[in-house]
Amino acid sequence: ETTQVLIIGAGPAGMLLSHLLADAGVESIVLETRSEEYVAARIRAGILEHSTVDLLRSVGLADRLEREGDEHRGIYLQWPHERHHLDFVDLVGRSVWVYGQTEVQKDLVAARGAAGQVVHYEVDDVALHDLESDRPSVTFTDADGTTVRVTATAVAGCDGSFGPSRAAVPDGVRSTWERTYPYSWLGILADVAPSTDELIYAWHPDGFALHSMRSESVSRLYLQVPNGTPVDDWSDDRIWDALASRLGHGQDGWELTPGPITDKSVLPMRSYVQAPMRHGRLFLAGDAAHIVPPTGAKGLNLAVADVALLAPALAALVRDGDARLADAYSDDALRRVWRCTHFSWWMTTMLHTGDDPFDAQLQRSQLQWVATSQAGAQGLAENYAGLPLGF
Ligand code: FAD
Ligand code: DHB
Repeated sequence: ETTQVLIIGAGPAGMLLSHLLADAGVESIVLETRSEEYVAARIRAGILEHSTVDLLRSVGLADRLEREGDEHRGIYLQWPHERHHLDFVDLVGRSVWVYGQTEVQKDLVAARGAAGQVVHYEVDDVALHDLESDRPSVTFTDADGTTVRVTATAVAGCDGSFGPSRAAVPDGVRSTWERTYPYSWLGILADVAPSTDELIYAWHPDGFALHSMRSESVSRLYLQVPNGTPVDDWSDDRIWDALASRLGHGQDGWELTPGPITDKSVLPMRSYVQAPMRHGRLFLAGDAAHIVPPTGAKGLNLAVADVALLAPALAALVRDGDARLADAYSDDALRRVWRCTHFSWWMTTMLHTGDDPFDAQLQRSQLQWVATSQAGAQGLAENYAGLPLGF
């Protein structure tokens, strides 16, 4: 088989790339190791940046988002006895939307399905070949056990942090940067109306807590826990008690309403960047090239920003043989990658607590400044609501 762009990974990066390429008149084939149902059900990100929403709108993917998503003006930042609202619209003229990655994924799959996009689910043994030639290829075993080779003009590695694309860049060519953090998140999904109108990010001596949401009737909450925590250590009652205490139940009349927990998992936290994001005819996008810790909600948005740069670059390369944007892709993408890597690290280290009393004092001072100074608040708002694409 042949195609113009072979896309590895049917997550948000891969599916959005196939959509944008089709808009530009470029055909693609998508490969995915998991089943369509598995990819659709993975509970992950929940917050879309201003420019992510603008992009989805501009390519006709925001109808359900506009109907069912919830636009937020900002967030609450809090520590014991104090809660401050940061209004991003007032501070930087931009907002964010609550709309789950599961929903973005469903909208992408529906739009690609309607357009007849070829997606091979449940493939195995994916291997990349001849990336330094102008006819790279990918081999894989199809769901029915047949070995297939697809030759393309370019290969897009959108296969997340465990896929083979990242490692297909030779050791002598790639540089990597990594930071692991001494804590994880316990995340829950609960069938209960959110106890807040906008997200609450809470610093607390017992550990960070976050009150997020998915809809008017579904809440998403997180607790900082030590690395290696077995999920079974946390009964539903223990989770709600810790959330109530860290989020300030009872303070100034605020109450956290518990409800039935429908999903519970522990997520490790890590920063990782690999450069360059291009090797020959292989182009990396999304988690395949970089991981951020979740604090600050950048992972999905960064994948979208990569693809917004990559699609026109591949279209020019494939359609017109013009490599200028493709040659600029890695450097252009990495500017935003490092901005988001810094912001995610900054939010993470400002909000997670450990046993060093000096660190705790610095965090409290920084939180006070960010929450009460116009300059401090604008810095957070500009990064959280997201810089314009191509900043
Ligand atoms: P992915 O969504 O990982 O998609 C990659 C796809 O490639 C997957 O479907 C995978 O199955 C497939 N694949 C892997 N190997 C192969 C192969 N060999 N061949 C073909 N396909 C392959 N971000 C936030 O902003 N907020 C959050 O709360 C949040 N929570 C998260 C929780 C978890 C558990 C994880 C893992 C991530 C979370 N993220 C969160 C990050 C966010 O979900 C990712 O940044 C986003 O999914 C990136 O999209 P992607 O398409 O690049 O990668
Ligand atoms: C969510 C996750 C985040 O990491 C974050 O900063 C905000 C919200 C969420 O899953 O809703």
